[in-house]
Amino acid sequence: MFRKTILCIGAGYVGGPTMAVIAKHCPEYKVVVVDINPKRIAQWQSDKLPIYEPGLDEVVFATRNRNLFFSTDVDSHIESSDIIFVSVNTPTKTFGQGAGKAADLQYWEKTARQILKNSSTGKIVVEKSTLPVRTAAAMERILNSNEKGIHFDVLSNPEFLAEGTAIADLESPDRILVGARNTDSGQNALEQIVEIYAHWTPREKIITSNVWSSELSKLVANAFLAQRVSSINTISALCEKTNADIEEVSRAIGMDSRIGPKFLKAGVGFGGSCFKKDILNLAYIAETYGLTEVSRYWEQVVEINSYQQDRFVRIIVNSMFNTVAGKKIALFGFAFKADTGDTRESPAISIAQSLMDERAVLSIYDPKASEGITPELVDYEGRFSVEHSPVSAADGAHAIIIATDWAEFRDYDYSAIFEKMEKPAFIFDGRNILDHQKLYEIGFSVHRIGRPPLSRLA
Ligand code: UDX
Ligand code: ADP
Repeated sequence: MFRKTILCIGAGYVGGPTMAVIAKHCPEYKVVVVDINPKRIAQWQSDKLPIYEPGLDEVVFATRNRNLFFSTDVDSHIESSDIIFVSVNTPTKTFGQGAGKAADLQYWEKTARQILKNSSTGKIVVEKSTLPVRTAAAMERILNSNEKGIHFDVLSNPEFLAEGTAIADLESPDRILVGARNTDSGQNALEQIVEIYAHWTPREKIITSNVWSSELSKLVANAFLAQRVSSINTISALCEKTNADIEEVSRAIGMDSRIGPKFLKAGVGFGGSCFKKDILNLAYIAETYGLTEVSRYWEQVVEINSYQQDRFVRIIVNSMFNTVAGKKIALFGFAFKADTGDTRESPAISIAQSLMDERAVLSIYDPKASEGITPELVDYEGRFSVEHSPVSAADGAHAIIIATDWAEFRDYDYSAIFEKMEKPAFIFDGRNILDHQKLYEIGFSVHRIGRPPLSRLA
């Protein structure tokens, strides 16, 4: 009864939301999402989905068991599908050649072999995961070196959604990019992928390219976005020395239409599963082609990110009379940004660790990321607590640190919170989101990024 079956291997932050939106707009297609992790699949089948993403529940609940299905049976679904999207994880290699920089493609290669083993007819295989440029060539070699006489087309269709806005990004993308080989079968496959997105995306926003441009564009888009964050963060350090105000500088330069206003928010640095991994991957690829200067240029973007976090911790310790040993400090926010429960590569992790290395005792509160806190800080057991309200986190604390840009942090009753804190009470706003003047008037010493502090101490 369905026109075609689409399979997605990998039910994570990319695969889950993307397939839900495809299922919503393409009711004549059967969309199956598989994962080797049974717990994840059980969660996708339950009322409590495994990821927090505004608007996701509605789309999944409307399509699930209509034309969207979740399963752990990877093998049998491969055989019955026409198009296979692969969105398994591609973490940074932790061993051997390229350790700490290159992409670890073992899950991808395993998936390719699994696809081959379970196919008796040719299929379209689409790279959704972010991969090093030319990965499709290796995949084609694995898939097409078969004795079954079947042919696979490997296409690249990178996902540009950002967490926290995934559904909005999928519903109205800036662009959809599909890369394919310039062969008859490659172009036919490309048309089939374009046709899926054309159900709800204007044709002019669906762009096509060769496979290598598509693979590389994803890495480059992330590298450029991260570079903007690192660039503005270097300027925040300079602002603190010169009494320029980073918010004013950002606004002034962002109104230049050649620069644009987005991704110019200074803070504690970027986090998330993509930026660091993808830049290091890009740098490693440049290095393997002998482009040492290119590689160093991009590595610097990651170095500035660590520098910004170290710098923030130094500001905290210096302001608190050069010692935080034994002091209770409330950390507001642990997710890598607002509107997600994801803690991967969150700046809050290194900030928390550095403060605990200085012997501070942390009480951590995050509206959606509580579950991720303890696993990220396993080596620091007993030196922090996970709190379920901002008030209990700040009770008896010497300072509050804002590490995530959650909107609700703006709305707390800081007068009541101030009353319960040790004095002098400090706030370190690592995201520049609070009403600093008001906090100062309540009695806090307020420190922020790239702006002069509002200090109550001479
Ligand atoms: C990113 C890309 O935006 C997305 O297109 C890609 O597919 C995956 O990687 P994501 O990691 O979900 O998405 O988050 P993003 O919104 O890009 O933010 C990344 C980090 O940069 C966050 O920690 C955020 O707080 C930080 N950031 C962003 C800033 O510090 N300042 C800014 O101005 C913007
Ligand atoms: P992303 O943020 O890129 O979506 P995630 O880590 O959230 O990454 O999701 C990747 C998913 O891929 C995980 O749920 C993982 O269990 C799954 N996965 C990894 N290897 C395989 C495989 N061989 N077959 C099926 N699923 C896999």
